[in-house]
Amino acid sequence: MGVDRFDGKEIEYLQQILDSGNLAAGSFVSRLETEFAAAYGVKHAIAANAAMSLLISTVYAAGAGAGDEVLCDPVVQFHAIGALWQNAHPTWADVQADTWLMDPASAKANITPSTKAIIATNLWGQPAELDALRKVADDSKVVFIEDCAHAMFLPYKGKYAGTWGHIGVYSFCQGKHMTTGDGGMAVTDDDDLAARIRSVTCFGESPPQLATVFRMTEMQAAIGLAQLEKVKGYIEEYQKAYAQLSAALEGCDWVQPRAIKEGCGNSPYIFSFLFRGDEKGIEREAFEQALFETGDLWNIGFTQAPAYKYKLFTEPMAYQNKGCPTHNCPYYKGDYEYRDGLCPTAEEIIPRMVNTNCMISEETAKRVAEGLRKALETAGKG
Ligand SMILES: Cc1ncc(COP(=O)(O)O)c(C=O)c1O
Repeated sequence: MGVDRFDGKEIEYLQQILDSGNLAAGSFVSRLETEFAAAYGVKHAIAANAAMSLLISTVYAAGAGAGDEVLCDPVVQFHAIGALWQNAHPTWADVQADTWLMDPASAKANITPSTKAIIATNLWGQPAELDALRKVADDSKVVFIEDCAHAMFLPYKGKYAGTWGHIGVYSFCQGKHMTTGDGGMAVTDDDDLAARIRSVTCFGESPPQLATVFRMTEMQAAIGLAQLEKVKGYIEEYQKAYAQLSAALEGCDWVQPRAIKEGCGNSPYIFSFLFRGDEKGIEREAFEQALFETGDLWNIGFTQAPAYKYKLFTEPMAYQNKGCPTHNCPYYKGDYEYRDGLCPTAEEIIPRMVNTNCMISEETAKRVAEGLRKALETAGKG
């Protein structure tokens, strides 16, 4: 069970919208933007119908288009899909072996003259080394975008994740820290980037460039406003749940807990650790079976492979198999190859990932942790 999320405030706001008769682009969207910006201490917050829409828009805002590269991390694929939508070429930086987050050294090594943006995912509630990544971006004069879909109010060295980058993007889809059903928010302190994001997320009378309708509705904003008042409370509960699950790993020498480094907060989303039983003579299948028998939902191996091995990237299917943007694109001057071994750390750790939802109450977590303890014991006995 998760925590109770809706308590009447949402209905009160929704009724005000119905009474007003205005369901789109009204005062609730502006209020949500203003309050979100205030909560994050940033100049601009731009609401949209989904984080994905904002990733597409922020790649545009960063100036990336046909022939340009967007550097991504390889555990998930959302940012790279955003790049494809702008006809830009996704390239990949490896992750760190202890946090599963973008490695600044690999980011630096993979910047080329064609790179226009770095997009790092603050994966499953933990921040990447955002100061180091910002420096890599600034040194190379590229835009640093943080995908904060899993990183609501996540502190890193005294500031929130999403405010270290030139742009931060949050998701409010179902199953995120705060939800509006679907929805998202981009934050930035840069006036020009803010204007460029807005210019493509909302189609006007006669748009100056290719724009679409990524607008958030008043109903989404109303629920968002109510959720924004409560989300820090949910995160505190999830932190207690995370502590319960972490404690269950203590004393087991064939799992690798995920590191939370100095200066990094934790907004728990997915609880993740690595299976290293094969290095100690413990069979993965035995552990898998023991986890299955707990009755709780666990996943081993996540997607089994880094995102750059997905067909969407290895085959030029994004633009009707015509070669763009990753194969035979006439604008692309690089010679990037989608090959095995591109990000060796990601390739090694992804199949070892053991994941479960951590947005649960502490009470539920106690039960899940007990099941995990038993599964470790059972598999450990062989
Ligand atoms: C890391 C990450 N980025 C972006 C998205 C896209 O979010 P949305 O569904 O709001 O478009 C998701 C959705 O799950 C996500 O997990």
